[in-house]
Amino acid sequence: MYAIFRFIIFLLPAETAHRITLFIAAFFRYKRPQKKNKPKSFMGLLFQNRLGLAAGMDKNGKHIDYFSSIGFGFVEVGTITPKPQKGNPKPRLFRIKKHRAIINRMGFNNEGMEEIYRNIRSAKRKDTILGVNIGKNKDTPNEKAHEDYLLCFRKLFDVADYFTVNVSSPNTKGLRMLQGKDYLQKIVETLEQENQKHSKPKPILIKLSPDATPETLDDIIAVVNPSSISGIIAGNTTIDKSSVAPLPEKFREGGLSGLPLGKKSTDMIRHIRPKLQPEKIIIGVGGIFSPEDALEKIEAGADLVQVYTGLVYRGPKIVKEINAIL
Ligand code: FNR
Repeated sequence: MYAIFRFIIFLLPAETAHRITLFIAAFFRYKRPQKKNKPKSFMGLLFQNRLGLAAGMDKNGKHIDYFSSIGFGFVEVGTITPKPQKGNPKPRLFRIKKHRAIINRMGFNNEGMEEIYRNIRSAKRKDTILGVNIGKNKDTPNEKAHEDYLLCFRKLFDVADYFTVNVSSPNTKGLRMLQGKDYLQKIVETLEQENQKHSKPKPILIKLSPDATPETLDDIIAVVNPSSISGIIAGNTTIDKSSVAPLPEKFREGGLSGLPLGKKSTDMIRHIRPKLQPEKIIIGVGGIFSPEDALEKIEAGADLVQVYTGLVYRGPKIVKEINAIL
């Protein structure tokens, strides 16, 4: 069924296909919801299963109930910035079918925290855990980035189950510099301070780039370990496109996701797990297309997993298949 749908929808430009698919999905959100019956606690939250939707698919938090209904135990919305943003000029989303991959340079297009707060509030959600992925506006200098993260954290605090601090998108100039020790420390301290004002602080995760060197990862772990940060998401898209070369010029800029990213993100998990404090969690994401891929991430040290590109290529059945074995 999805194969036929995909055949037709893949005839369209990728971003148009994405919009139409989500529009259609909205009509299916309450139909025969998939059962979720493998509850497990992480970060003080009860997840109905260990598979989540990765950030970027539902940037504006408008489709939470649909993704919940197809079986995801958790849905991560965003990346959300304080002010609304249009993102980079189109075209900015491309399929590389031969490699079961996507290249995107969206650039944090989103409706902004005020509007998205309302979108999230109108979702029914039930027992699905909601992750809120936050970032900075394009025109905010890195020196003031912590202020943008704080604005989003404050505004969205009461609707989020956990927060993800995105310092790893390759499509906002200079954003990945925020993985550097000093910037990261500043962001972490700012959010910790705000979090501690609440009687029930929210778990915070940091989402990292698979392009970070082992030395950078070690520096990041040195910031995360002594902090109250709950864990790491490994990881975002990669700018390394050697696995899909040669590519036409228009594909050069942007982040690569999907099958070719799988090994790189698993290697990152393997590097981080033994060095990260045992009570802190890892969410493994990158190139998961099958239950075996999900298991590989868990065996490498991930506690939870997320998918994005696998869902585009394989449709909702990927969720059912993975949930059957996780
Ligand atoms: C993403 N991803 C992403 N990540 C993030 O933290 N914030 C974002 O806004 C986005 N946006 C986004 C858009 C598109 C079109 C894609 C394909 C990806 C990255 C995503 O969450 C995930 O980390 C990677 O795509 C790797 O996982 P997959 O796609 O290989 O399963």
